[in-house]
Amino acid sequence: MLRLEPAGTTDLAEAYAYPGTAPWLRANMVAGVDGAATREGRSGGLGGEADRRLLSILRALADVVVVGAGTVRAEGYGPVRPREWWGGLREGRAPAPPLAIVSRELRLDVDTPLFTEALTRTIVITCGSAPEDRVRACEKRAEVIVAGEESVDVGAALDALTERGLVRQLTEGGPRLLAQFAAAGRLDELCLTVSPQLTAGAAARILNGPEMDSTPLRLQHVLEDDDFLFLRYVRR
Ligand SMILES: NC(=O)c1ccc[n+]([C@@H]2O[C@H](COP(=O)([O-])OP(=O)(O)OC[C@H]3O[C@@H](n4cnc5c(N)ncnc54)[C@H](OP(=O)(O)O)[C@@H]3O)[C@@H](O)[C@H]2O)c1
Repeated sequence: MLRLEPAGTTDLAEAYAYPGTAPWLRANMVAGVDGAATREGRSGGLGGEADRRLLSILRALADVVVVGAGTVRAEGYGPVRPREWWGGLREGRAPAPPLAIVSRELRLDVDTPLFTEALTRTIVITCGSAPEDRVRACEKRAEVIVAGEESVDVGAALDALTERGLVRQLTEGGPRLLAQFAAAGRLDELCLTVSPQLTAGAAARILNGPEMDSTPLRLQHVLEDDDFLFLRYVRR
């Protein structure tokens, strides 16, 4: 079994290099062994040190980090901050990738560090039916993309990011947003951390949406650290 080295950031960057220059959507998610995507309402209770390190490296490799507003609220997201272990991973690019937050309701406080301290202007992806006053508030502190009318058309959202040159796309969920990417046939890769715990309960799985056509996946690699498994699957 391959192992994550304690300081093996270079190896991780190689193991998770984006496959080319074409647009590519990778998801990074964690689940307990019995499938729970949250513990006590958050994903943090499932993670571990290596999981956090991998999340950080995947951010360093990405041009943009796409996340649903539910996750931003539940996890108290701040802006992506560069880490010293990124080394030269951001060479020739902005020091940190922007977050692109998907939301219709726009219940987002634009006076928080998520907006005010972002090294690269935060992006808000919304739709035509979003409350106008909140759109205007977001526009003061973020780049606002409108994709879709009643709700965000997730394919159009990804295309809009691609048009801005943000082709190495990483999504950190949450489960409702991820289910839409997968259902739209837009998910190219799933990086799944399997956390060594059983939780039962009513937590959602990492995809939370209506049943969809099955998407066959190919296992690219498995890494192990401290009883955690790190699975990298790509779409067949
Ligand atoms: N296990 C993991 O790896 C993992 C990863 C991430 C999150 N989580 C956990 O998952 C939970 C959150 O789950 P979730 O599925 O509700 O999160 P989510 O997908 O991040 O957020 C759902 C929200 O995103 C917005 N949204 C999603 N799709 C949209 C669309 N097509 N059009 C417009 N807005 C859209 C809406 O925001 P508005 O309401 O603002 O319109 C919606 O309420 C949290 O407990 C979090 O900790 C787990």
